[in-house]
Amino acid sequence: MTSATASPVVFKNFIHGEWREARSGKAFDNRNPANVDDLIGLFPASSAEDVNQAVESAADAYRGWRLTPAPRRAEILYRAAELLVQRKDELAHDMTREMGKIMTETRGDVQEAIDMTYYMAGEGRRQFGRTTPSELPDKFAMSVRDSIGVAGLVTPWNFPMAIPSWKLGPALICGNTAVIKPAEDTPLSAYNFVQALEEAGLPRGVVNLVMGDGPSAGAPLVAHSKVDLVSFTGSGDVGRLVSESCAPAFKKCTLEMGGKNIIIVMDDANLQLAVDGAIWGGFGTTGQRCTAASRVAVHKKVYGEFMSKFVERARALRVGNGLDPTTDMGPLINESALKKVMEYVVIGRNENAKLATGGRRLDQGAFANGWFHEPTIFSDCDPKMRICQEEIFGPVVSVIPVDGFEEAIAVANGVKYGLSASIYTRNVNNAFKAMREITTGIVYVNAPTIGAETHLPFGGTKQTGNGHREAATAALDFYSEWKTLYIDYSDRLQRAQIDTENV
Ligand code: UN1
Repeated sequence: MTSATASPVVFKNFIHGEWREARSGKAFDNRNPANVDDLIGLFPASSAEDVNQAVESAADAYRGWRLTPAPRRAEILYRAAELLVQRKDELAHDMTREMGKIMTETRGDVQEAIDMTYYMAGEGRRQFGRTTPSELPDKFAMSVRDSIGVAGLVTPWNFPMAIPSWKLGPALICGNTAVIKPAEDTPLSAYNFVQALEEAGLPRGVVNLVMGDGPSAGAPLVAHSKVDLVSFTGSGDVGRLVSESCAPAFKKCTLEMGGKNIIIVMDDANLQLAVDGAIWGGFGTTGQRCTAASRVAVHKKVYGEFMSKFVERARALRVGNGLDPTTDMGPLINESALKKVMEYVVIGRNENAKLATGGRRLDQGAFANGWFHEPTIFSDCDPKMRICQEEIFGPVVSVIPVDGFEEAIAVANGVKYGLSASIYTRNVNNAFKAMREITTGIVYVNAPTIGAETHLPFGGTKQTGNGHREAATAALDFYSEWKTLYIDYSDRLQRAQIDTENV
């Protein structure tokens, strides 16, 4: 572990195959949210000038990369994934230090990047199109995936390596070049990922990394005229700005934003399993996942029993520095995230939700230098309350009593988001009805709302996204365009829809 007093390490942007300082010479601090005295390093505070260099480099590299056969592109991704495997523990340690979540989880985050990189490397030998008979004789028809150009990628801090891999993997395998702007709270994990790609032999300019904040670096990237497609994961407010910035040029844009995900606990559920799921889904990553189970709807018949078990387990969670192996839950990412949680605790109290446990910031002793908050549960909530409607992005779970299945489904769907939902039941009919009736992009049965795997589509309905999906082959649909090819070898003019009768 680096001591708090060691001189700060200075990190650089990666532009045109070189590590470069920001043109302004300015840098920002990256600090450990469990102990703000622990300075991880200084990172370039980039602006439009740096972004422009990066985009120009990606645009220059595009032709060479798109003409590189996809299986060759894949070899670089395989090598990068191997490097991540070798460095997994070290990378997880870096990530816990800059982001706060516990080492078990940061190992999982690195593993998700490994899985995605291998998966997308595999697509180098697939990316299948379709061949199909033509309606005309001596004519051949097929569709192929084509690359698009320069991808502008803006990634969040909660999955600081996994989410860059979700975007860079498919972008690269489809033959695009990229500029990535990671969240300013977690630039080191994106840096580590890009470094692995560089070491794996990625040609100059194919991936560029520009660090800095949203307004100074993210906005000029999204708006740049040589950026052809944009992928953003983050808040709804910023997503709207990204969408507006892409609209005038009809830039292809994928947005992955908020959630207000629910776990439904039916009266026939395995209650112990449901409690395990609600603890992991609600307080894993300190509740800072877009998939976090921030609502639990419990059948009235088992409400009392569920609540007492759930509260007991939440109280037993050990909050602390994620680098300590005995910690169950780390800090919030930064001061403003902590303040938001504290504000929602006040909102919940004012709405007359019952504070079943938690509700306080932890700032004494070992907690004094970090952004810690108790695991918090509100019970007896009304589904219309703000704490049941708005994304808090912290360790706060609102529990809603329900009369039965129909009401639970109505509560599940009664929010503006649609990312993930879960039902605990041993009734196969209700399980299948829930899969059909719940309107989220992801539904789990007898498992919490978190834990998506890289080879299945990831994303949500309603205000969670704008209709695209990440991961799996679904991602290829965003990072490539279909090109339809007709080859007429009849040596005469054949008119589709017209000459078909005379065949
Ligand atoms: C996110 O919170 O933005 O399913 C992503 C999960 C993780 C990904 C979460 N595999 O919870």
